[in-house]
Amino acid sequence: MDLFEYQARDIFEKHGVPVLAAAIATTADEAEKAALAIGGKVVVKAQVKVGGRGKAGGVKLAENPTDAREKAGAILGMDIKGHTVRTVMIAAAAPIEAEYYLSILLDRSNRTFLVMASVSGGMDIEEVAHTAPEKLAKIPVSAVDGITLAKAQEIVAAAAFPTDVADQVAQVLLKLWDVFQGEDATLVEVNPLVKTHDGKIIALDGKVTLDDNADFRQPDHQSLVDQEAENPLEAAAKDKGLNYVKLDGQVGIIGNGAGLVMSTLDVVAYAGEKHGGVRPANFLDIGGGASAQIMADGLSIILGDADVKSVFVNVFGGITACDAVANGIVQALELLGPKATKPIVVRLDGNNVVEGRAILAKAAHPLVEQADTMDGAANRAAELAAK
Ligand SMILES: Nc1ncnc2c1ncn2[C@@H]1O[C@H](COP(=O)(O)OP(=O)(O)OP(=O)(O)O)[C@@H](O)[C@H]1O
Ligand SMILES: [Mg+2]
Repeated sequence: MDLFEYQARDIFEKHGVPVLAAAIATTADEAEKAALAIGGKVVVKAQVKVGGRGKAGGVKLAENPTDAREKAGAILGMDIKGHTVRTVMIAAAAPIEAEYYLSILLDRSNRTFLVMASVSGGMDIEEVAHTAPEKLAKIPVSAVDGITLAKAQEIVAAAAFPTDVADQVAQVLLKLWDVFQGEDATLVEVNPLVKTHDGKIIALDGKVTLDDNADFRQPDHQSLVDQEAENPLEAAAKDKGLNYVKLDGQVGIIGNGAGLVMSTLDVVAYAGEKHGGVRPANFLDIGGGASAQIMADGLSIILGDADVKSVFVNVFGGITACDAVANGIVQALELLGPKATKPIVVRLDGNNVVEGRAILAKAAHPLVEQADTMDGAANRAAELAAK
């Protein structure tokens, strides 16, 4: 999960990374009040999860609370690269002497953590990396040792930070490591890290990506989820522990195993071309143990999608055999009762397929029809969706 800048700022503060006073606002009124509380000049910053806000006009200096009100009024509602600004952050304005860059990230290809550091920070670090790569120091960090003081000093030296700020930057690196490790992040970026006129080092803009796989041990992170942006079906699926991704088609898909589900999306998209271009409506992998409850949960999510016109259940029986899956479908439809409203094409194959098909045939649910092959089932589901 990517965080908003203000969320990153709060996490920085919690771990002792130096940041400025700030508050968020969703109206011009609130922005004025926040600016008044902070006092002096402030910066009004669009809170969107996309880079290049400054260049897009989403970061503006305000001389006083009235000015902050006007600037917030202009920034709120603005569209930045397809993201509507719903919130602004009002932060104290820093007297900037120099802008630096620091980041810690997971370097998958080298199976290590990596620190990137540069004294040429500010808006365009990608540009620096491209045109003057020697100005961007890249130092691997071992997962076992992390960033020690010695490591921090090595990074500071490699990036050639001026001696008057070297100690402060090293301390900030230690704290950023605390953020990275303590919060289970995969990215912690500060751009710019600034030196003020009086020689202080402050993180002015933060970007943090949290590792969702660590959610189980980071209960606090739940409160950072942007409820408004989350797709309601995906949120409901997540609550039920389902591996679901909403797509924009009309054929609901349920399968067991990520590979099979991916292929199912392909065959449905292909079959859909013959039926007016219908497409898969979602990815849903119910995994190995497809119990009645999981099947019911999956079906209810998919049937709750107003775009879905038909459902394709594609199961290859393995450890969980086809008869268990068939029983799951029958019981799921009993659980759903009148909530099951759309035609369901089922293709079973693999372990105990004969028994599985017999169970469905015997139940003879009016919405369910069986198909022998994956292609045949995809074609039928697409045809039903196109009706
Ligand atoms: N609190 C502040 N006080 C003074 N100047 C600021 C402050 N915050 C930002 N700035 C100035 O605005 C520039 C852009 O701000 P910031 O880095 O937050 O946004 P951005 O880099 O455009 O956004 P993104 O990181 O999403 O690309 C900074 O490089 C800095 O010069
Ligand atoms: Mg920035």
